Amino acid sequence: MSVNITPLTQRPAWKALEEHYQKIRTLHLRTLFDEDPRRGERFATEAVGMYFDYSKNRITEETMRLLQQLAESSGLQERIDAMFMGEKINVTEQRAVLHVALRAPRDQSIIVDGENVVPQVHAVLDKMADFSNQVRSGTWKGYTGKRIRNIVNIGIGGSDLGPHMAYEALKYYSDRGLVLCFVSNVDGNEFVESTRDLDPAETLFIVSSKTFTTQETLTNAHSARAWCVQALGNEQAVAKHFVAVSTNTEEVEKFGIDTKNMFEFWDWVGGRYSYDSAIGLSLMIAIGPERFREMLAGFHAMDEHFRTTPFERNLPVLLGLIGIWYNNFFGAQTVAILPYDHYLGFLSAYLQQLDMESNGKHVDLEGRKVDYQTGPIIWGQPGTNGQHAFYQLIHQGTKLIPCDFIGFYQPLNKLKPHHDLLMANFFAQTEALAFGKTAEEVAADGVATFQVPHRTFEGNRPTNTILMERLTPETLGKLIALYEHKVFVQGTIWHINSFDQWGVELGKVLANRIIPELESTDEPRLTHDSSTNTLIRRYRKLRGEPS
Ligand code: F6P
Repeated sequence: MSVNITPLTQRPAWKALEEHYQKIRTLHLRTLFDEDPRRGERFATEAVGMYFDYSKNRITEETMRLLQQLAESSGLQERIDAMFMGEKINVTEQRAVLHVALRAPRDQSIIVDGENVVPQVHAVLDKMADFSNQVRSGTWKGYTGKRIRNIVNIGIGGSDLGPHMAYEALKYYSDRGLVLCFVSNVDGNEFVESTRDLDPAETLFIVSSKTFTTQETLTNAHSARAWCVQALGNEQAVAKHFVAVSTNTEEVEKFGIDTKNMFEFWDWVGGRYSYDSAIGLSLMIAIGPERFREMLAGFHAMDEHFRTTPFERNLPVLLGLIGIWYNNFFGAQTVAILPYDHYLGFLSAYLQQLDMESNGKHVDLEGRKVDYQTGPIIWGQPGTNGQHAFYQLIHQGTKLIPCDFIGFYQPLNKLKPHHDLLMANFFAQTEALAFGKTAEEVAADGVATFQVPHRTFEGNRPTNTILMERLTPETLGKLIALYEHKVFVQGTIWHINSFDQWGVELGKVLANRIIPELESTDEPRLTHDSSTNTLIRRYRKLRGEPS
């Protein structure tokens, strides 16, 4: 990788963008659309069944040309190739970054440390399929001989959010005879509430953890084990009610799960990029192996599009570049993800980890502090609910919030007139955000003068529109791969490592120091700052019995 490239903000492409920004920062989308009646078609592209309209952005052809130049000056294509070829681009952990191998067809070859990893991927997928079919058909029985009806995935972060989001997204396709729960928080309330109505004899726990050392997951797994063994009266029940998904065989064995009931993945799969690995086992049980493979095919289609398509028509590249434009030149701090589909209710939570854990970095690949903004804050929730909650601020607040609107032409549940109403709102919002309503237009409606400023919409609020046919396993795969690669594009331009997450470590270390201070029966000698010391003392005094 080119470590000696000119620092980002000193490159001609960056400087040209700064100058260009000064020229067009006040240019209104009304003007851009008035000047070019075909703008809505020209600034739109379609690939792998995904229509991407980026015309309602504060961009011109020149903007896109300069942004593409910036991508080229960052060696984006070389870096894409390096990722797909299994180079160790996660430099701080000395690891390849190969989530794309998880969805590679059987006959593809991707070499890591001299070995083709694709056969290993398919061997695990086949093992997952076999196990999923056994659970789905009732062949896999619990310790007392009862059929499994409840699946509880225990995991956190990437070992929870991906399968949870995708299970919700694809619930329409799931086996309704199965109950799926996702337990992640170390807060015991979640475990207790999730399991209180379940029969242990019919419950399978999938303990999902890349490292198998994560405090939250192991605490929940131990509670689950106690819950199960106590109810079923024998330690041997564990073999029928617990399976593990991990890269760490030793720790899985230590926990007491037979490694023949372990589903493997590899250190070249980042946690937040892992739900199409064995981490998706709960999802595969819910929707079946065929649907799961359709989802992988969707991911792969987007991977190939990303790898081979020129930047000017490359969806993840366009999405990433437009994000850079607002983040680095307009100073936008956040991006709202607004899916117009109830099933995508967990999408923004999932994308929060994907984007913020990847690109929330303050030093570049060489460890130098960056002098530009990196990853934005990701947030959002499905329309139309958001419209009645936070859209006010997007329309009339003082902050610029670029939004991604995501929708489907066809609903999964045909219940007239809902889908047309939903999509009418979708289109109306992007129109209102872009064009607003001038004071003259408001006054012409006969609005009282004192109200005019309050009812005026400045507009010029940028949006991307992403449309696909219907929400299926395949389209979900394409959508998630789109965002994975968008994060990659931005991380490449910011010259940061999108694949480590050292920022979560300090809190973990400090918590481990505080645990014995809370658990100790003797008054501990506290050596924190005066605030933390006081909080710990106060907690110890007022908590009642230690728990
Ligand atoms: O603490 C952050 C993190 O390391 C994430 O990156 C990861 O997805 C999550 O914790 C869970 O880790 P594991 O799968 O090893 O339990």
